[in-house]
Amino acid sequence: MSDYKNMLVTGGAGFIGSNFVKYMLENHPETRIINLDLLTYAGNLENLSDIEDNDNYVFVKGDIKDAELVNKLFEDYDIDSVVNFAAESHVDRSIEEPEIFLTTNVLGTQNLLEAAKKHWQTGTDEEGYPTYKDNVRFHQVSTDEVYGALGKEGMFTETTPLSPNSPYSSSKASADLVSRAYNKTFKLPITITRCSNNYGPYQFPEKLIPLMIGNVLELKDLPIYGDGMQVRDWLHVKDHCSGIDTVLQKGEPGQVYNIGGNNEKANIEIVDLILENTKKNLENNSYEGIDTNPDEISEELKIHVRDRLGHDKRYAIDNTKITTELGWSPSYTFEDGIAETIEWYLENQDWLNNVKSGDYLEYYENMYSNR
Ligand code: NAD
Ligand code: DAU
Repeated sequence: MSDYKNMLVTGGAGFIGSNFVKYMLENHPETRIINLDLLTYAGNLENLSDIEDNDNYVFVKGDIKDAELVNKLFEDYDIDSVVNFAAESHVDRSIEEPEIFLTTNVLGTQNLLEAAKKHWQTGTDEEGYPTYKDNVRFHQVSTDEVYGALGKEGMFTETTPLSPNSPYSSSKASADLVSRAYNKTFKLPITITRCSNNYGPYQFPEKLIPLMIGNVLELKDLPIYGDGMQVRDWLHVKDHCSGIDTVLQKGEPGQVYNIGGNNEKANIEIVDLILENTKKNLENNSYEGIDTNPDEISEELKIHVRDRLGHDKRYAIDNTKITTELGWSPSYTFEDGIAETIEWYLENQDWLNNVKSGDYLEYYENMYSNR
């Protein structure tokens, strides 16, 4: 069991972060969670409404780049572990506006690392390296996109050279390298996980799966980039959470672990599955707030639009290291996970409509009108 007492979770109001906060409160009642989130367009406190009164949970609105605030949190809450989810996370947005990806993802991570080093240092050893308190850990949540793209064959292992292609993935790779540097130069106890595409509840509908579900319900075009034959390796968000937990408990400081679900699917297959499942669900059940006629859901909704610039063709994760060394394995099959996920979005129309209000429509028009 992890004996972390006070864990700083950054980006805990986003998709994976909010699932992780709940996972931790459920599975580690000995750990207090301090959630630092700036509440950008992707941060949503509604994701956490069911645990906001939990005695083991504290929310702080703020920026991971704010050194004064982060240092104060380390002091006030005696932070002994950090799990850094906070990031700008959407590849398409990084193509439009790269700068914020570099400031948040790189400088924000460095600011957190520096605070951890400062607060956890107990002294210096005879070689001049800092020494640290026992049982402290900085965990950086990274992505398989840092490895670049694969052709038809092969998988990413932890020793695959970093070769990021988008402003987003290059910012995440940079954050990994800065984290590595704090481990090599300052011996800060750091672990990094690189994970494949997540799916599940509370994902912002700019991402493929919730975007397509939402569009099917509105009988809107389903915009498939290029030929739709790009391949992603899908992992249920709850399996990602258990993978990070496993690394926090059993992972070796200084090590990188891939987390993947062995679920390679072409984008077009995902869209077909969403079309088919959503239609079937609507034929067999009624859902509050949905009056879409299932007879109008058809293949015709699919359209091929201009491809993403620098679009990575294929990702596939080799998760041998985490499964053999740490004993983790995913619990969801893709078939069950995607069926459950589609059902969740159908049953949570209020959530979907709320996140699609505000600036979402403007974002959607800008992103898709000229494709
Ligand atoms: P998300 O966009 O849903 O959430 C990001 C969260 O970070 C939001 O709550 C946002 O408000 C917060 N945030 C942004 N800038 C901040 C700042 N400066 N200070 C504090 N908070 C800030 O992202 P996600 O999909 O949940 O991804 C979480 C992490 O996991 C990211 O680091 C991402 O790179 C990584 N990751 C995501 C996936 C995936 O499939 N979604 C896969 C692998 C890795
Ligand atoms: O691999 C992990 C990464 O997965 C994470 O690091 C990122 O934070 C996360 O956003 C995700 O990146 P992708 O670019 O793979 O996810 P996205 O949902 O944006 O797109 C998935 C695939 O679907 C990709 O090949 C692009 C395609 N796509 C996406 C959208 C939004 C479409 O064809 N049409 C769309 O409208």
